[in-house]
Amino acid sequence: MGTIVVVGTQWGDEGKGKITDILAEKADTVVRFQGGNNAGHTIVIGEETYKLHLVPSGILNPGKLCVLGSGMVIDPQVLINEIKGLEERGMDTSNIKISDRAHVIMPYHRQLDKLEEEKRTSKIGTTHRGIGPAYFDKISRIGIRVGELINEAEFAKKLKTALELKNELLEKLYGVEPLNFEEILKEYTEYGKALKDKVDDTSLITSRDIEKGKAVLFEGAQGAMLDIDYGTYPFVTSSSTISGSVCLGAGIGPRAIDSVVGILKAYTTRVGEGPFPTELHGEQAEALREAGGEYGTTTGRPRRIGWVDAVVLRLAHRLNGLTHGVITKLDVLSGLPSVKICTGYKHKGRIIKEWPASLEVVQECEPVYEEMEGWSQDLSEIDSYEDFPLQAREFVARLSEITGIKFSIVSVGPRRDQTKIIENIIF
Ligand code: IMP
Repeated sequence: MGTIVVVGTQWGDEGKGKITDILAEKADTVVRFQGGNNAGHTIVIGEETYKLHLVPSGILNPGKLCVLGSGMVIDPQVLINEIKGLEERGMDTSNIKISDRAHVIMPYHRQLDKLEEEKRTSKIGTTHRGIGPAYFDKISRIGIRVGELINEAEFAKKLKTALELKNELLEKLYGVEPLNFEEILKEYTEYGKALKDKVDDTSLITSRDIEKGKAVLFEGAQGAMLDIDYGTYPFVTSSSTISGSVCLGAGIGPRAIDSVVGILKAYTTRVGEGPFPTELHGEQAEALREAGGEYGTTTGRPRRIGWVDAVVLRLAHRLNGLTHGVITKLDVLSGLPSVKICTGYKHKGRIIKEWPASLEVVQECEPVYEEMEGWSQDLSEIDSYEDFPLQAREFVARLSEITGIKFSIVSVGPRRDQTKIIENIIF
């Protein structure tokens, strides 16, 4: 047995939830290590569709330990509702563990997320879930951790300090009403009581599971291009979305990581603002958006659409040290006369193959495409990958050649049986 990390290689929404759910069948423990309810994972099992924002996708496989790691920011109300919703659908949630070191998203975080965004001249297009302001407080050392939320006296003390600062900001900078200490204390104390039994030292639990040789799956949220350091900064999320962040966000050593699986769509999508070199507009974008159902799980926003970009994927491969790749939604490209892969960018007469740090440079880049013949057959009901039309297999092979990523799974629909295995990914 061993460990597998699942990460997104584009701007999120690559289908990580579905693949995590499948890999979780063989796992003992599934751990989320960063982000919060800005993430939205849609998983279809039989006739049932589940939308998860905080609880690891492993929960849909009964009997797995599901961990919300220290690197996460947790909105307790959202978590309690999500747990309740799962219980109402007959899921066993007794195996959920929440890190005592994870940070709590408070009402002022959600409010500041909106206010800051309104004030910004160049909008990020955040999910308004309070993610950035919660990580801001963590780094500023005025955040409140889950371990403190469940301790009434300590929580009251921490809240008082934080709220004094936040209310000053709300009143003086943004000219809005201050928040009421007593009301928040009462509401959040109840949340603390509801979650108390699930709070634990999850670094210790996870590390011991690894030592015992259990199969541990780490479930990433968002994607490499939304990473705070290497993504399209400042149009990124506020956490580190790459595999290295597992060590910090789950509390394990770097030698404990065995395999890293990168998920990518056969095309590219992004929600929110920021550069997107291969973006399509007009009818073609609209057709792909409809065919792929490209509307955000969390906010319902229509996603921006473009061709698959090997420059982005090479960066994701390098940062994550991918051992495997998974292509999702290949079926969405069916019926197009031709399909394109962006192999590099043209910048001031030069060809760039690696993603530059400067967004100014990115904005000046023009994508260079390799155009391949499309396929007309619907891939979604073909049983095995070997029976896929040659053009579809050539597209996958060429993408592998250009990016260096070895593809192990191709997914052609939301159902579990629409996952075609090229090579098994094993713990
Ligand atoms: P935040 O994470 O809410 O601060 O949003 C920052 C940026 O990340 C915005 O462009 C969001 O649309 C994007 N983002 C955050 N989470 C996700 C996700 O799970 N999928 C896709 N985009 C996301």
